[in-house]
Amino acid sequence: MADPTPDAWRRVDAYLTELLVGHDPTLELAVEDQNDAGLPAIEVAPVNGKLLHLLARLAGARRVLEIGTLGAYSTIWLARGIPQDGRVVTIEAEPRNAEIARANLDRAGVGEKVEIRLGRAAEVLPTLEGPIREGTAAPFDLVFIDADKESNTIYLDWAARLGRPGTVVMVDNAVRGGEVANPATENPQIIGVQRGLEMLGRDPRFDATALQTLDAKGYDGIALALVV
Ligand code: DHB
Ligand code: MG
Repeated sequence: MADPTPDAWRRVDAYLTELLVGHDPTLELAVEDQNDAGLPAIEVAPVNGKLLHLLARLAGARRVLEIGTLGAYSTIWLARGIPQDGRVVTIEAEPRNAEIARANLDRAGVGEKVEIRLGRAAEVLPTLEGPIREGTAAPFDLVFIDADKESNTIYLDWAARLGRPGTVVMVDNAVRGGEVANPATENPQIIGVQRGLEMLGRDPRFDATALQTLDAKGYDGIALALVV
C-alpha cells in the first residue's frame, strides 16, 4: 500500500468529515471568531473533536477536565457529550483566549456546563484537588490534555490524581509530524511529548496507547490512556 500523499489524506479527511461530522454552524463560527481574534489555528480537527465528544459519551462522563481551552472548539464538543448537569472544567492561561472561549461557549448554548479557570495549568490544577479529596466534588471522568507540551508529564500526573480508576485520558499532539520518534530532538515541545508518552508506558497508574493521525491539522497523533 502506498504511503498517503497530502492530496490523498486531505481528500480522505474531507470525506470522513463530511460523512461523519457534517457541518455545524456553531462550531464553524467558533473557529471563525477564534481566527478573527488572531488566536492560532491549532484547535483539534473536526474528526478529532467528534472523537472527544464520543469519548465523553462512551465514558458516560459527567465531569470533564480540559487543559488548554484556546477558543473552546474542543470544549464545545466535550460539553455536548455530557449531561445537562455535568461540568467541563477547562484551564486557559491566556485571558484573551478565555474571553473568546466564553463567548463561543455561550453562543453554543453550553455556557452553563463549562467553567473556565484562568491561569497557568500547573497552578490551577492543585486547586482542583481539595474538593475531590473532601468529597464535595467527584473525580474527573475524562481528561483532555492539549496545552504546553513541555508540561505533559505534570498534566498526566494531575490527570491520575484528579481522576479515578476508569478515568479516560486523551493527550493531543502525540506525534508532531513524526518528530516524536526522533531521539536526538532538541525541541523542548517534542521532548515534552516524548516524556509524556514514556510516562504513559511506564507509570503503573496508566494503561495507554497512541495513534498517528492525518487530518485537517496534518500529521500528528493522539495518546489515549485509562487510569487503572
Ligand atoms: C500546535 C498544534 C496543537 O494541536 C497544539 O495543541 C499546539 C501546537 C501546532 O501545530 O503548533
Ligand atoms: Mg493540540
